Amino acid sequence: MRWLTGFKYHVKTLLNFVAREILKLLNILVLHGPNLNLLGQREPGVYGSATLNDINKLLEREAQALQVQVSIQQSNHEGVLVDAIHSMLGQHQGLLINAGAYTHTSVAIRDAIAAVNIPAVEVHLSNIYRREAFRHHSFIAAVAIGQISGFGSESYRLGLQALVSYVIKN
Ligand code: DQA
Repeated sequence: MRWLTGFKYHVKTLLNFVAREILKLLNILVLHGPNLNLLGQREPGVYGSATLNDINKLLEREAQALQVQVSIQQSNHEGVLVDAIHSMLGQHQGLLINAGAYTHTSVAIRDAIAAVNIPAVEVHLSNIYRREAFRHHSFIAAVAIGQISGFGSESYRLGLQALVSYVIKN
């Protein structure tokens, strides 16, 4: 029966290899909304001292550890964000989004996420529920698989982990 043990070992190795190769094909779109280009200098008491570049590097490192690809974009324009979400079809398997102030105002971004029907995780650096009342409502929350808010740059890392784990399982 030694041959059976050896055979099982080779099948397991092959399946692990295939699983790793499939994972490498996963491409997650990261979208940063308005004013996030100013991170580092923008209200550091609220948003911390990390720049957008620091956050993007953190995400690239995490993606490497998770063995997935990330594409990262920032825009101050609602329509550009909507277009980026539409262009996910056939290209990306998950969306990590900090829509900034559009979180609280944009039915268009909410509808774009619902339209493409690709799993999305909403992230915020600050805890939006401890802030002004107008930040307590998110149009995106209802179309996201989940939301992470209040952990600074870590919100992005946690969001990416949660999103990749969800995409693999579903
Ligand atoms: C934010 C919270 C929003 O209310 C705000 O408009 C932002 C940043 C955050 O990451 O904490 O621009 O999304």
